[in-house]
Formats: sequence, C-alpha cells, structure tokens
Amino acid sequence: DLSPIDKAKFVAAKRATDYVENGMKVGLGTGSTAAWLVKCLGEMVREEGLKITGVPTSSRTAALAREVGIEITSLDEARWLDLTIDGADEYDANLNLIKGGGGALLQEKIVATSSDRMVVIADIGKQVETLGAFPLPVEVIPFGWQTTKALIEETLVGMDVMGRTTTLRLNGDTPFMTDEGNYILDMHLNRIANSRQLSLVINQIPGIVENGLFIDICDAVVIGYGDGRVEVRD
Ligand code: A5P
Repeated sequence: DLSPIDKAKFVAAKRATDYVENGMKVGLGTGSTAAWLVKCLGEMVREEGLKITGVPTSSRTAALAREVGIEITSLDEARWLDLTIDGADEYDANLNLIKGGGGALLQEKIVATSSDRMVVIADIGKQVETLGAFPLPVEVIPFGWQTTKALIEETLVGMDVMGRTTTLRLNGDTPFMTDEGNYILDMHLNRIANSRQLSLVINQIPGIVENGLFIDICDAVVIGYGDGRVEVRD
C-alpha cells in the first residue's frame, strides 16, 4: 500500500542493503530514500544480528538510526568507512550527482569522500541527461551571505549555465539553518554544461563552504521503479 514513488525508494533502499556486510562501518545518508535504508538496516540489526557501525550524515539521520537500533559513531571515531549509502536529487550517466535538497550536503560529501565506496539509492525520476534542473544547493556561512550571493551571481556570468538566479533557502520566514549553523543558497541554473568546472569555480568563492555537486564520488546507483523493479548502474 505504498505509493509508486515510495515503493521505488523502498525497493532501491532494500536492494542496497546487499552491499552491507557484517563488521562494516557504513555512512548513513539523509533524506526520505535514505530513511528507508536506515529502517531496513535497523531491522537487519534487530532481527538478523547484523553488526555494523553507522556514521550519520545529519542530526535527523542520527536520531532515526538510534531509534531503529543501529549503533552509531562519529566520522572521526570511525575514520575510514567501508561504504556510504545515500539518496540524491539528480544523477547523470557518469554517476555525477546533485545533492543537498535536504540541506545535509556538507556532511554527506565529507562522509561519502571518506568511504571506500558510495552507493546512491534513487527512484528513476532522479535520472537526468544533464544536471541542473534541480536547483543546486550551496552551503554558505551566514556572515556576509548577501555579498556572497552577489559574488556567486557575478561569477556565473562567464559560465555555461542556463539560469543564474540564487535564492536563500527559508524555513518558514527565517533562513534554513544547516547542522553546522550555515545557510543554503539554491542556484537555479536549469542546465549545467560543465559540472566539474562549476564545482571548482564555486568553491573558490569566499564564504562558500561546499556545493551539492558530487563529481567522481559515486560508484553505483541503485534505481527503483514504481512497480517494484530495481536496476543497478555502476
Ligand atoms: C539531503 O541533503 C539530500 O542530499 C538527499 O540525499 C536528497 O535530497 C534526496 O532526498 P530524498 O531521498 O528525500 O529525495
């Protein structure tokens, strides 16, 4: 009795548990798809005796992991992870991603980069030919954020993108705040011709902590369909 979209997310998450082995240190992603994964792993811990240590990518995921019985630790305690499983907002044929729709891109990128392998779980609707229809989230420090925003828009003038409006993400009528106490600017680019270059250029701007482009980080995408089919791309 799940909706097709939830079913797609669930079957992708379920299949991704095949990558998880006893004794592994596993990065736990953030978002509605990753929440299915955390629930599935919790069930395996409680009912099948699976032994893993989880490193959550957000306070939300940490709370859920605790709730379902997964032992968690910090990244610095774990140091290197065997595997990270996380959702994404978009993925392309080269397995490059846009992430951060849930606002956890900074921790997600740090954790995924510290992992031997990153597996993305997504419904087929996240697949794109060119990244950028989903607004690219950028984490900025609150100090001078309007100046940073202006600088971003100026920098985009010379770049091969189709739009360059940038909006401050809100939570009601106050700025949305990340786990690290930063703000998120959503960049409405529509089409990012060169995501590698854009990612490098954006991260050069002072005030920007990180952007939601994940280039050469993801190793496999487990794709779920509304009818329950699953496909793996790697
Ligand atoms: C969280 O910051 C994001 O990177 C999520 O992984 C992404 O937004 C996917 O979320 P859903 O699984 O809820 O679509």
